[in-house]
Amino acid sequence: MVEDIRRPDNMERITTPALAQAFIDEQIAEIRAQVGDKKVLLALSGGVDSSVVAALLIKAIGQNLVCVHVNHGLLRKGEPEQVIEVFRGQMNANLIYVDAVDRFLDKLAGVSDPEQKRHIIGEEFIDVFADEARKLEGVEFLAQGTIWPDILESEAGIKAHHNAGGLPEDIASRFELVEPVRILFKDEVRVVGRELGLPANMVDRQPFPGPGLGVRCPGAITRDRLEAVRESDAILREEFAKNGLEGKVWQYFTVVPDFKSTGVKNGQRTFDWPCIIRAINTTDVMEVTVEHLPAELIDHLVQRIIAEVPGINRVLYDFTPKPPATVEYE
Ligand code: XMP
Repeated sequence: MVEDIRRPDNMERITTPALAQAFIDEQIAEIRAQVGDKKVLLALSGGVDSSVVAALLIKAIGQNLVCVHVNHGLLRKGEPEQVIEVFRGQMNANLIYVDAVDRFLDKLAGVSDPEQKRHIIGEEFIDVFADEARKLEGVEFLAQGTIWPDILESEAGIKAHHNAGGLPEDIASRFELVEPVRILFKDEVRVVGRELGLPANMVDRQPFPGPGLGVRCPGAITRDRLEAVRESDAILREEFAKNGLEGKVWQYFTVVPDFKSTGVKNGQRTFDWPCIIRAINTTDVMEVTVEHLPAELIDHLVQRIIAEVPGINRVLYDFTPKPPATVEYE
């Protein structure tokens, strides 16, 4: 597939609503010409790329797009609800919601090795998606949010872009790929997404790793510690938005490591986890600098996280750039 995909040399960078609209019109025509009245399947995570692909396909073929949203239990607070509300509620999409939370968390129970955790999450995702695909009759196309940097990286041999490669043969061989944003850079995908009417917090989202909150709950994931990661992340995102930092800081999140320390609350001893805040800036994620938050905001975050998140008795701030530390903890 990769060889015949080219970004035209003279293609103007999509920076304005008018250019985005022209791209949308062109893609709608291309999608209709490619798929006709056939059905298209899409794994819709709610990330920028798959959301823009979904919105484009809904405009082009409406109910013939079948979106599958897999909730693996490692999504951020409110994410599955937002996918359902935006795509089923506002865009009237044909959306299958798969609650696979127990399936993933049961498989991950007791697994502490980071690479093994990633492997389980990736494999399980493909299994769940393949199960849904097998249930559907008459779907001949698979849509994907492949973007231009994925193609460049595959060509340079840096990483295989996330195409149908991971799917079992009986599924992969059934589908022809539909990749309507494959010639776009990320910033262009965002401009197109805005023009398609997707909510700002979906289009301007910070990067979020595929294994989700799983890599922010280091060691063996437990449901209570995972909840502490999810709740503290929600508080952090809310405070960043309130303080005008959303979209200004590249990536910010919390990590709840697997050890406890002594504290005191209402005159009683506590023995709970720390919550680590990480906020970083970068242009290429190879080198990363730390965002220095105002002291008052840090104080406020400490108070809120301690008061609102069960199981946390200490809040730490990670001042380490990359290198030597990576962005994520696993
Ligand atoms: P690191 O931790 O390698 O992260 O410094 C660099 C950037 O990549 C994101 N990241 C991932 N994204 N799947 C993804 O889709 C992954 O397994 C993964 N691991 C890290 C990370 O959030 C950061 O933006």
